[in-house]
Amino acid sequence: MKKILIAGAAGFIGSHLCDFFIKKGYQVIGLDNLSTGRIENIAHLINNYNFSFLNQDINNLNVIEEKLDFILHFASPASPIDFRLKPFEILNCGSVGTQNLFDLALKNDALILLASSSEVYGNPLQHPQTEEYIGNVNSFGERSVYDESKRFSESLAYAHIRYKNCNVRIARIFNTYGPRMRINDGRAVPNFINQLISNKDFTVYGNGNQTRSFCYINDLVDGIYKLLLSKYNKPINLGNPNEISINELVIKIKNLAKNNLKIIYKKLPADDPIMRKPNIEKANNILNWRPIIKLEDGLKKTYNYMIKENNA
Ligand SMILES: NC(=O)c1ccc[n+]([C@@H]2O[C@H](COP(=O)([O-])OP(=O)(O)OC[C@H]3O[C@@H](n4cnc5c(N)ncnc54)[C@H](O)[C@@H]3O)[C@@H](O)[C@H]2O)c1
Repeated sequence: MKKILIAGAAGFIGSHLCDFFIKKGYQVIGLDNLSTGRIENIAHLINNYNFSFLNQDINNLNVIEEKLDFILHFASPASPIDFRLKPFEILNCGSVGTQNLFDLALKNDALILLASSSEVYGNPLQHPQTEEYIGNVNSFGERSVYDESKRFSESLAYAHIRYKNCNVRIARIFNTYGPRMRINDGRAVPNFINQLISNKDFTVYGNGNQTRSFCYINDLVDGIYKLLLSKYNKPINLGNPNEISINELVIKIKNLAKNNLKIIYKKLPADDPIMRKPNIEKANNILNWRPIIKLEDGLKKTYNYMIKENNA
């Protein structure tokens, strides 16, 4: 039985990965310090014989004796509100934490997969973004703690592949959404759904013409799995190329339930990207992967989950 360590296991993406690998018959060790994650996200796995949980900080990792085959690094605060609330933790997760997990991978001769981000492209001047695009990133600003932590992690990955013969996979993940996102974590989809559920007007930052491309969690997990099993060790975009403006997103979310809510426009935060759309040709050709879940369907599932959570 293959053993996989999932760092960030109690978070949004990490918890879905735990479910997925348990279903696939892996032995899963979930590791998390519960900084932005919730134990409720993995509570249903705690009594599973093939699952164990380590409450640990990747920046201060204790010795892990178990022999690992795979390591997934999904441990980092990731939502825009955390850029202000947890800047040092983010920087550490992308540097000290990443190094600690690479050391663990080397010790075990394990394959390590890194959750990088479309944020490595910054406010992109190339559209859509291909993996070759080197980005337009501000190294000194509110977003920089996150953007540069991901870029530094990728550099660590490069050095470990090149000079330490480490087996690495790098997923450049674009906006992903779905059940188990924190309702108040400030990202667009949970934010608007939260406003809908609590009957508060929608707040849009900027004029709402900025674009994003939203990928449903199940599609992303499928892509991560295909990447893990591939032999491809360069960064690869995983995201949904279906690009929409924030204004269009609000309308779709508004249409999920009867309401008279208005849209209130507020000042755009510094360095907020104007457009985001992945070119996924590589993922398509190399991994035979493309997202299949329609935005309307994914939003409905997320809305239903959040309604249930709200009433729990
Ligand atoms: N959701 C997205 O759209 C998206 C896009 C690009 C990249 N990513 C990356 O995917 C990963 C997971 O993101 P998410 O959206 O699930 O966020 P999340 O906040 O829900 O999950 C992150 C998890 O990491 C844990 N964590 C944070 N610091 C830790 C530490 N020092 N030690 C151990 N655990 C720690 C948190 O408690 C949380 O459970 C992050 O690395 C993020 O940068 C996410």
